[in-house]
Amino acid sequence: MKQPPSMKVLACNMKMACSFEILDQVESFLKTLDGEDLDIIYAVPFPYLTQADKRLASQKNIRIFAQDVSQFTENAHTGEVSAEMLEDLSITGTIIGHSERRAQFNESNDVLETKILRAMKNNLQIIFCIGESEPQRNKNETLSVIRDQLSVIQPFLNETPIYIAYEPIWAIGTGKVPQNKQIEEVALEIRKFIEKEECNSKIPILYGGSVNEQNAEDLSKMESIDGFLVGGCCIKPEIVQVGKYLSKRK
Ligand code: PGA
Repeated sequence: MKQPPSMKVLACNMKMACSFEILDQVESFLKTLDGEDLDIIYAVPFPYLTQADKRLASQKNIRIFAQDVSQFTENAHTGEVSAEMLEDLSITGTIIGHSERRAQFNESNDVLETKILRAMKNNLQIIFCIGESEPQRNKNETLSVIRDQLSVIQPFLNETPIYIAYEPIWAIGTGKVPQNKQIEEVALEIRKFIEKEECNSKIPILYGGSVNEQNAEDLSKMESIDGFLVGGCCIKPEIVQVGKYLSKRK
């Protein structure tokens, strides 16, 4: 099984923010990061995948992902994009289970499991997102929520390259970031789950939620995570500094 190459992962989720102008800017930020010790992923909206692949993925450590994939395989699903299509476009992988999709498009564990299956069958790598809401954290349910979400990928851990991104919902786009020890507690739980499954390769664990140039240095110190999933700041110049902090860590 082909695993992701590096353990300093700078994964970027552009969300619904892309244009040719933004791609130009991102291209210039990434040129500044050329030569850094990073595994860079940009998850790009569907219409821009091919352009992004042409322009950004010419650097050896950059790969283009989709932000989602359909649970369906073919035909009567207007507006959907299948895993077969992504493979046909030579796209490396896809995010699955982002909390915005879970919340806005009612994506249940069953739907996510089907999406993982489709991605796997079409040789797509997967960034699988998990994370608790603020009320769940306040009720001390974080670890049980995490365990339930992880159960979806359990059958696939040894089958396909997977990154697990811990993104507390209350930290996404809010400027609030958990304390390092709160992230480490969850990362440890994820690591325990992976070890129990006797996975034959190291699965990168990412942290996501309001990562920016102010907090990236401190967040990079955590040995229990292998990198970040960055949203809002990935189309801004500060992504360069975030990448540099990550690259410099031991
Ligand atoms: P944010 O988003 O960095 O803007 O908080 C992260 C994400 O949604 O993946």
